[in-house]
Amino acid sequence: MTDERLGDNAPMTTQTLFPTLIYKAALAPNGAAAFNRQLLREAAQLRIDDPAGRRWSETGYPGGYTSYGTVSRMQTVSPTFAALERKLSRHVRSFARRLDFDLEGRELVMTDCWVNVMPQGVVHGLHLHPLSTISGTYYVQVPKGAPGLKFEDPRLDRMMAAPPRICDARASNRPWIVVPAVAGNVVLFESWLRHEVPANPIVTERVSVSFNYAWF
Ligand code: NI
Repeated sequence: MTDERLGDNAPMTTQTLFPTLIYKAALAPNGAAAFNRQLLREAAQLRIDDPAGRRWSETGYPGGYTSYGTVSRMQTVSPTFAALERKLSRHVRSFARRLDFDLEGRELVMTDCWVNVMPQGVVHGLHLHPLSTISGTYYVQVPKGAPGLKFEDPRLDRMMAAPPRICDARASNRPWIVVPAVAGNVVLFESWLRHEVPANPIVTERVSVSFNYAWF
């Protein structure tokens, strides 16, 4: 559609304001295959050793296993997860710089870190991470075809008469976006941003580690 009041060469600009930043990176520059094998072994062992967590998961994560309700500070009980914390903290600091956070000399500290094992058919419904500053997920095992992380536009509740977007709208204009899950990659976001994991259609389990950082 052409606006006849504007000539072809009329200057116009649009500005992108109030952006929602999603951080994506490989955990380590040289890959993380061996590290992921160790994380996977420990996640499998934890699932066996954590009957309370399996019970918690029956209602909190139906069909799957998460240590969120029981062993939610993995970085304090496993040297492997403590190593993961050190690697993740570098990414979190870099994301905080990109967000222009003024931390006033205080640090972003990992408060929670838990394992998620998602067999076929399991969903993790829409949620956010209250009382945290930056949250994220590290992907340990992602079978081909397993779901990514779906983010929702945080302004949906005030859009009222805003029209829907065209099918091929640019990513920054879409009401939701799926960031693919890739083993060895970390995804970070501000903790207020609502997200979900759609159902896993694949027989092989999708395994991830989720975490929160808070500003003390
Ligand atoms: Ni989450």
